[in-house]
Formats: sequence, C-alpha cells, structure tokens
Amino acid sequence: MNNALIQAQNLSRSYRNGREQISVLHGLSLELRGGEAVAVIGPSGSGKSTLLNLLNGLLLPDSGQLQVFGRAHSDLTENDWAELRRTRIATLFQDGNLIPTLTVSRNIAFRAGLAGLQAHDGEALLAQLDIADVAHRYPDQLSGGQRQRAALACAFAMRPELILTDEPTGSLDYATAQRVVPLFFDAIRERALGALIVTHNPELAQRCDRILELREGALRPWDSAVSS
Ligand SMILES: Nc1ncnc2c1ncn2[C@@H]1O[C@H](COP(=O)(O)OP(=O)(O)O)[C@@H](O)[C@H]1O
Ligand SMILES: [Mg+2]
Repeated sequence: MNNALIQAQNLSRSYRNGREQISVLHGLSLELRGGEAVAVIGPSGSGKSTLLNLLNGLLLPDSGQLQVFGRAHSDLTENDWAELRRTRIATLFQDGNLIPTLTVSRNIAFRAGLAGLQAHDGEALLAQLDIADVAHRYPDQLSGGQRQRAALACAFAMRPELILTDEPTGSLDYATAQRVVPLFFDAIRERALGALIVTHNPELAQRCDRILELREGALRPWDSAVSS
C-alpha cells in the first residue's frame, strides 16, 4: 500500500465547442502523496482548472484511470464525490468561495457543519491567517487579500486531507500576495495536507516539494532552464 491521495494515469479530457472537439488534456499522469505540496504552472488555457475539476469530481475524464484516496473514479457515484468534497477534498478558487449573506465566522461554521464538524477552531484559524478582526464582516466588506484568507479558513474548517487551489493569489496585488503566501503555505504545512497548487506566483511555487508544468495536455517536471 502506498499513501497516494491521487493517482492519475493517461487521463484525457476534451470539450465540445459546437462542431469542434478541443482536446485539453491527453496522456496526463500525476501522483500526489499525503502531506506533499505540488505546484502546477502553465500558460492560460493549458487546462489547469480542467485538471483540478477532474480531481474533485466536478468533471469526468473521457478516458484514463484516476484514483482518489485509493478509490477508482469509475466506482465513485456523484454522491460519493459530493461527500468527498464536503469532508476530504477542499477546493479553493481564485475569487474565494464565500457565501455572501454570511459573515466570515458564519461562513466558517457553515463549512465545518457541512463536514459534520463543530467550528471550535474558527477563531484560531482566523488568528493564524491574521484576519481575526474581520470575523464579523460580510465578504463584500473585505479586501481581496482578506477575502482570500477567509476562503482559506473555510477550506481548513472542514479539515480536508487534500486541498486543490486554483490560482489562490491570482486576484491579489503583489504586496498583498507577498504577505498572504507565507501564511497560506505555513497553514497547509502545519496540517500536513496534500496540496495541488495551481499558481502563477513563483514564491508560492518554489515553496512546494515539486513544480510541474502543464503543457500540451500533460504534466512534466518543470525545468526552469528550459522554460525561462
Ligand atoms: N466548458 C468549456 N467548454 C468549452 N471549452 C472550455 C470549457 N472550459 C474550458 N475550455 C477550454 O479548455 C481550455 C483549458 O481551459 P482551462 O482548464 O480553464 O485552462 P487554464 O485554467 O489553464 O487557463 C481552454 O482553451 C478553454 O477555452
Ligand atoms: Mg484556470
């Protein structure tokens, strides 16, 4: 037995645009182990978001094998995927995923509740991410950096084993991103989460155990000498 959270072999996925079939991913393989943080970089349109949504079950592959937590995707029903997203796999999108009608504290409590947990560590989470002072605000009363950290606190509130992030610092200005990246990364490490981090932020990528580049439909080890 190994402790792979994700094992993907030869995955492919295309989209149909009218008559045209666009092949986005083809022959993609990936293994992610517990506690491992892997960065995925790649140009816009290369299929990074498509990949994340295959790994959280929001999209299905056209072909290939995918196992999450040792279970084959072909054996997972929509309900199984929904339960994994409630309890084990957190996805953090670029613009955060907060419920606009709930305060930050209530967002955290709600997210924990979906996973069947009490949000007793909500305050500690907010303190760790340096946003305790905005716990009672609504999402639209937060700055971009605060919103992204609040979304991260919600992701942690469900105590996931795997976190998938789609350009978590993409909507932040440079100075804010500089401040958020270490908080973000320390929080992932402290929880020993498996993390697949799609990012354009070199600081964030370089903190990861490995950097993979998505190019021509597949992942390969990033070679800075070739790509720069
Ligand atoms: N629902 C969709 N229908 C048709 N084409 C799509 C759809 N979603 C994404 N695409 C296309 O697939 C390619 C990869 O998209 P995406 O995974 O969002 O890339 P990235 O996240 O790397 O920017 C792009 O060419 C995009 O236009
Ligand atoms: Mg994307």
